[in-house]
Amino acid sequence: MKQEIILIAEDNNVLRLALEEMLSIEGFVVLAAANGIEALSHMDVLTPDLIISDISMPEMDGYAFFEQVRANPDWLSIPFIFLTARGTKDDILTGKDLGAEDYLVKPLNRIELLTAVRSRLERSRQLRVVRLREAYEASLTMLANAIEARDQYTRGHVERVTAYAILLAKQMGWQGKRLEELRFGAILHDIGKIHVRETTLRKNGPLDPEEWEEIRQHPTIGASMVKDIPYLIPAIPAIKYHHERWNGSGYPYGLAGEEIPIIARIVAVADSFDAMTTTRVYQKARTPEKAYNDILKGAKNHFDPVVIAAFKRIWENGEIQKVAI
Ligand SMILES: [Fe+2]
Ligand SMILES: [Fe+2]
Repeated sequence: MKQEIILIAEDNNVLRLALEEMLSIEGFVVLAAANGIEALSHMDVLTPDLIISDISMPEMDGYAFFEQVRANPDWLSIPFIFLTARGTKDDILTGKDLGAEDYLVKPLNRIELLTAVRSRLERSRQLRVVRLREAYEASLTMLANAIEARDQYTRGHVERVTAYAILLAKQMGWQGKRLEELRFGAILHDIGKIHVRETTLRKNGPLDPEEWEEIRQHPTIGASMVKDIPYLIPAIPAIKYHHERWNGSGYPYGLAGEEIPIIARIVAVADSFDAMTTTRVYQKARTPEKAYNDILKGAKNHFDPVVIAAFKRIWENGEIQKVAI
C-alpha cells in the first residue's frame, strides 16, 4: 500500500520534531513546516493525505492556512486537524466556524495523536470510496441514457426502471450491497442495445426474422460488455435474463421459474411496467392504472409471484405512482 503523507505545520521546533518522529516511526511520510506559508509551499509539490496544524504561528497562522487549503478545490477533502496549546472554548468555536474536523490539545500523547490521525484517514478513505461510487454510477447512467436515446421514445426509461426495481427490492427486504448490485443491473439492463440498429429499434411494424434476432441478442451482448469489469459482475444476471419469463416463454434462453436469477425477475417487472406506461413505436402509453392491471393479468405467466406481491404492495401505498410519468 502507498505510504500516506502527513503535513505538519508547527512553529515550535521541539514539538515539530517530536511529531515528525512519532509519525515516521508509524510508517507515514512526514512533511514538516514552521508556518502556513512553508506548509503551502510543500503542498505545491506533494499533496498530503492529512494535515496537522498549530493555530498560532508566525507569518501565516493555522486559521489562515486552513482557509487557503479549503480555497483550493483539489484540497477540499484533505482531513485537517488543528493543534492548539490554548484549547480554550473560544478558540475551538472559531475553528468550528471554519469547518475544521478535529482538534488536538497540546500537550498531546502518542496514542491520542495516532488515534486521531488513523480515524481521520479512515474516514477520508471511506468518503473517497463513496464519491467514486457516485461518480461511477453517474457515468454508467449517462452511458445507458446515451444508448436509450437511440430508441427515442424511452426518455427517462433507465432512471424509472431503476427506481421501480429499487422500490420492489426494498419492499422484499433487500438492503446494502444487494441493492447496490440491483441498481447497477437496472441501470445497465439494456446496454446491449448498442448493437441493435436504429432502423430496427425504431421500426414501426413487425420485425423480420433478422431484426428480431438482433433484439433477442441484446441481453447476451450487454452481459458480455461488462463481464471484465469486476465491480459490475454481480449486475450481469439482471442484464442477461431481464427478458426471461416465469413460464419459460421469454428470451434469449427460455429459462423458467427460479432458474431465472431473482435480480432479473425484479428488473423484468420494473422494465415491463415502464414499457407499458411510455409511448413506443408499436404502442401508445397506457395509464399507470391500466398498466398495473395488465401486469397483474399477465402475472401468472410472466412474472415471479413474490415480486408481483411486492409490486401490489408498493402500488397500494402509492410509491409506484410517484415515479410513473
Ligand atoms: Fe431489454
Ligand atoms: Fe428496458
